[in-house]
Amino acid sequence: MASDAARAVGVDIGGTGIKAGIVDLDKGELVSDRVKVATPAGAHPPDVLAAVREVLSTLGVADDQSVALGVAFPAIVKNGRTLSAANVSEQWIDFEAEKFFEDGLGRDIHFANDADVAGVAEVRYGAAKDQPGLTILTTLGTGIGSALLYDGVLVPNSELGHVQRARHGKDAEAYAAYSAMERHHLSWEQWAKRLQWYYSHIEFLFSPDLFVVGGGVSKHADKFLHLLDLTTPIVPAVHRNNAGIIGAAALARG
Ligand code: BGC
Repeated sequence: MASDAARAVGVDIGGTGIKAGIVDLDKGELVSDRVKVATPAGAHPPDVLAAVREVLSTLGVADDQSVALGVAFPAIVKNGRTLSAANVSEQWIDFEAEKFFEDGLGRDIHFANDADVAGVAEVRYGAAKDQPGLTILTTLGTGIGSALLYDGVLVPNSELGHVQRARHGKDAEAYAAYSAMERHHLSWEQWAKRLQWYYSHIEFLFSPDLFVVGGGVSKHADKFLHLLDLTTPIVPAVHRNNAGIIGAAALARG
């Protein structure tokens, strides 16, 4: 088992689930069970805080300050404040979220956007390691999150799930997130047509060198990635849906 200095706890708060684990930061791997609870209905701050406390206590680290803690959240995060709320309560808009969690948990945390930390995990330990040029990681889940990584350096808060679909009056995530597939009972082929629009558009806007696909559905990458016709290589996140936990923990060590 790694020493405390080489371990950290990552909590990945999503629109549907809150996931957590203890991570070996040398290997970029979970060394505990992956613990998950449903995101409370409405995702209001006090309820989300209670759910985070619950996953920490299930992991047995609720009162353990010796292990660093990283928390990832599905919103723009700037200087510890959440500035948007697409799939969570609007109370998070312009909210001192990092301080709220620190006060509520009685400890320091490191706090960042969920897709950004997944990007950090894949750069340090996964599909974007040593990748030159522009990598765009997208998470396909309740929403669409994005991380822009240039030569391994993160450009935070890119929010590419909210590019607008001209003439359709919807943003990309309302149309092409995994939740849209579930909501509209789409087949993989039908959903892939929506993803084709999305990734072609992002490819046109950014000319990336690599796409990495994360989020819960990335464990089924073999069902839909081969249906996409893109110039840019597109691969699943090595850490699949654990990238957020691992990245949040990695960020906590700095
Ligand atoms: C949010 C992003 C987040 C993404 C994935 C979007 O709706 O605006 O901040 O990264 O969902 O959770």
